[in-house]
Amino acid sequence: MSGNTFGTLFAVTNFGESHGPAIGCVIDGCPPGMALSEADIQPELDRRRPGTSKFVTQRNEPDQVEILSGVYQGQTTGTPICLLIRNTDQRSKDYGDILQTFRPGHADYTYWRKYGIRDPRGGGRSSARLTAPTVAAGAVARKWLQQKYGTTFKGCMTQVGELAIGFEGWEHVQGNPFFAPVADVSAIEDYMNVLRKSGDSCGARLRVTAQNVPVGLGEPLYDRLDADIAKAMMGLNAVKGVEIGDGFASVAHKGSMHGDAILPGGRFETNHDGGVLGGISNGQDLEVAVAVKPTSSLLVPRASINTVGEPVEVITKGRHDPCVGIRATPILEALLALVVMEHALRQRAQCGDVSIPE
Ligand SMILES: Cc1cc2nc3c(=O)[nH]c(=O)nc-3n(C[C@H](O)[C@H](O)[C@H](O)COP(=O)(O)O)c2cc1C
Repeated sequence: MSGNTFGTLFAVTNFGESHGPAIGCVIDGCPPGMALSEADIQPELDRRRPGTSKFVTQRNEPDQVEILSGVYQGQTTGTPICLLIRNTDQRSKDYGDILQTFRPGHADYTYWRKYGIRDPRGGGRSSARLTAPTVAAGAVARKWLQQKYGTTFKGCMTQVGELAIGFEGWEHVQGNPFFAPVADVSAIEDYMNVLRKSGDSCGARLRVTAQNVPVGLGEPLYDRLDADIAKAMMGLNAVKGVEIGDGFASVAHKGSMHGDAILPGGRFETNHDGGVLGGISNGQDLEVAVAVKPTSSLLVPRASINTVGEPVEVITKGRHDPCVGIRATPILEALLALVVMEHALRQRAQCGDVSIPE
């Protein structure tokens, strides 16, 4: 397998390049009979779109989704759903300089070494533009999960570079271009203005959660829910770390404090485990944190080589995100939704008849 399909029962196959005519995906395995139109998907794409503030790439893509198949008279038919998003604002000449060189920290070098050929325009297939179809597929999964179980997904950015953002409340997230869960984002704006002027970039930390997740999702040993969440998150461009629940902070905990006490009614006193026990959802919120590295396309000169192995200095012009974390929140929500959807369908298939005495 060449790695372009996510999932088995809800299988999303992604296609396209950053500067090709279009990008998109085919979803195979969506249950039939769900009302679906572009209006269910477009709001999620609008949240991910580039060019929406001065703090992100100025590439201006409308990201209008078209449903090409799998829906008849407004309902999913159970057949493959093809979602198409046309590229409209390519500026490929910006990438002429990196045709013969490799940006340090980017995928140029490894794509060239692996395939022996690469599409340098906008990063080709390695571009985060290919996360738009992921978000579109995630919107389909989110709708089904919401209707079936009331499952919802939320995310936010909790740190940008060295600046800890903190958490004041989910209600703030949609009110600013950073998906920051705080009322006053002036410190983030100041930080980003200084960064942009320097021509440098920074990393970020993000949080993503799912609420009303049914108990029982996840398939030990090898397809544990937490393992599949980690794989999905690590599959996103620039992600360098994933934590479930308390993650690395668990190292310093005592067992007497960390293990979530179980209360009558199958409730839990705390959620240090992030909603997963033994690789299986326990009905608590899924809690995931993600670290993304700094953008590698920089105005700051960096040492590299060209395709014949000579040393060169690389400066990347063109339109780039100074902090890729700023646009990552809707993508992480979509990825979590795809994992939960996949496991919800698997759980229905294998254990749909299981009943536990009350
Ligand atoms: C939402 C998002 C936006 C991104 N925007 C850019 C960008 O504008 N310029 C860039 O060089 N990298 C950007 N990246 C990161 C690259 O796609 C990524 O670093 C590159 O493909 C190398 O892959 P790796 O970092 O996973 O090893 C972005 C990543 C995400 C998740």
